[in-house]
Amino acid sequence: MNNRNHEGSRHGGPPVVSCENVSFSYLDSGRPALGEISLEVRAGEYVGVVGPNGGGKSTLLRLMNGLLRADSGDVRVAGFDPAAEPFEVRKRVGMLFQNPENGLVAPFVEDDIAFGLENVGVSREEMRERVRKAVRAVGLDGYEQREPHTLSGGEKQRVALAGLLALDPEVLLLDEPTSMLDAAGRRGVLERLEALRGARTVVHVTHHLDELLDADRVLVLGAGRLVADVSPERLVSDPDLLRDNRLVLPTALRLAAELGLGPAKLRTPEDLAEAIVEKSGARAR
Ligand SMILES: Nc1ncnc2c1ncn2[C@@H]1O[C@H](COP(=O)(O)OP(=O)(O)O)[C@@H](O)[C@H]1O
Ligand SMILES: [Mg+2]
Repeated sequence: MNNRNHEGSRHGGPPVVSCENVSFSYLDSGRPALGEISLEVRAGEYVGVVGPNGGGKSTLLRLMNGLLRADSGDVRVAGFDPAAEPFEVRKRVGMLFQNPENGLVAPFVEDDIAFGLENVGVSREEMRERVRKAVRAVGLDGYEQREPHTLSGGEKQRVALAGLLALDPEVLLLDEPTSMLDAAGRRGVLERLEALRGARTVVHVTHHLDELLDADRVLVLGAGRLVADVSPERLVSDPDLLRDNRLVLPTALRLAAELGLGPAKLRTPEDLAEAIVEKSGARAR
């Protein structure tokens, strides 16, 4: 993993997700989709995963929720081997995919959110309560009776997220959940994910570095290898790491770098504006 070692995290305790020397190849493919991956995610951590297309990000999540079985090495999620005990793992892990159309199955939003609960054996009353809480958690109060096909992409993705939250998962695996949404839809989903920070363990795959500036750590996967496991500040300050992995800085950070403002501290356009005003004010004086 080069010299970019795993940095200390403020989250203690045993790992909730771990991979040890995990390798995986698809049957009809020459090179391994993942080779010798080792990583740990601790309870309450928000961990981003980035890297070029084909780097192995989706494969990694599929191994974590038991859709695929590693050729070698150990995968553990909430104490279980996902491939050996997929039902135990799926009780504890929720997965959100790119396409918000795929997850929605019921005629009304509230049925959709309750759908997963039907198989868990909770009482009607508890089901209603859990759906109510999940609706609130994703900011969809008043949408309970809407038909999913009448919702925007971002709203659909929030319905899918509510369906996961109703099941109260320990771990959320998010595979590019905003990539098919417009800007407003993205913002809506990201705000909901932000609100979950700390309460759940999250592994979030994305192509947008700006979605991960507050993450505890970011894993960089390139050509099936774990290239780096770093803080977001480290990542955005490492031009080689960014370029080698086809990662593009958010506009505010690029501008900040051009202006010599040091990218690591500046997260939003508002931060940048403030820094520019400060700098030019200082010069005028
Ligand atoms: N179902 C599949 N069958 C064969 N090869 C696959 C399949 N899914 C992914 N791959 C290959 O595995 C590698 C990793 O893919 P993937 O995990 O989807 O990467 P990412 O999500 O980072 O874009 C790529 O080379 C890809 O072509
Ligand atoms: Mg993918």
